[in-house]
Amino acid sequence: MEPKVLIMGPPGAGKGTQSTRIAEEYGLEHITTGDALRSNKEMDISHLDAEYDTPGEFMDAGDLVPDAVVDAIVAEALDSAGGFVLDGYPRNPDQAEALDGMTDLDVVLALNVSRAELIDRLTGRRVDPETGENYHVEFDVPDDDAVRERLVQREDDTREAVENRLDVFEAETEPAIQQYHDHEGYVEIDGEQSPDAVWSDIDAAIRGKVEGS
Ligand code: AP5
Ligand code: MG
Repeated sequence: MEPKVLIMGPPGAGKGTQSTRIAEEYGLEHITTGDALRSNKEMDISHLDAEYDTPGEFMDAGDLVPDAVVDAIVAEALDSAGGFVLDGYPRNPDQAEALDGMTDLDVVLALNVSRAELIDRLTGRRVDPETGENYHVEFDVPDDDAVRERLVQREDDTREAVENRLDVFEAETEPAIQQYHDHEGYVEIDGEQSPDAVWSDIDAAIRGKVEGS
């Protein structure tokens, strides 16, 4: 059984960290709009007549990239996926509606973390440019010196962009999460625990939903 899992939550909640683990343990595809967009930051989207002409400009400001761009990324990725964990989409009610027309979900995980903790996590996050793996200057330091020395900061992890991303989350993404409260696969997870404790709750939630269905 390859479950179809959606993971939602604010910037810095641990969606990427936990999705990597879910994908590994359950043999699922990790579909993430954030990573897909970061690989296409310079794509010309001027035909959309939006505020900026490339995804990267929206991202560095902490704003949402236009729906048409992300809807197309997800539709294409879902087309070739069996079981998956979807991370970073939907981020507003219109995207939730679009997703509804693309697939059925077995599990919807909602990670909860306080704003103060999110700011600490995001401003301290560092990324390994070679593997894409996330680390943290305090909470998750790599053992390997070579890895530690090559870590970089994401361009939207500055204090200003982080504050804007959290505001955008509250205004646009929280209402989308609300729409899943009555979904039979919906589970809230306390994301403020250690990564292993969060994983253990997620693993139990997925098993519970899949075995209970
Ligand atoms: P995206 O890349 O999706 O970023 P995000 O949602 O802001 O979330 P993050 O990746 O920052 O956080 P995360 O929840 O994955 O946490 P992580 O595991 O890394 O999107 C970026 C941008 O792309 C958006 O702003 C937008 O512009 C655009 N975009 C993407 N999707 C879009 C869409 N659908 N529509 C429109 N635009 C879209 O963890 C964070 C840090 O905390 C790490 O350092 C980690 O080591 C640490 N950490 C993780 N778990 C714990 C823990 N339990 N305890 C302590 N530290 C922890
Ligand atoms: Mg992420």
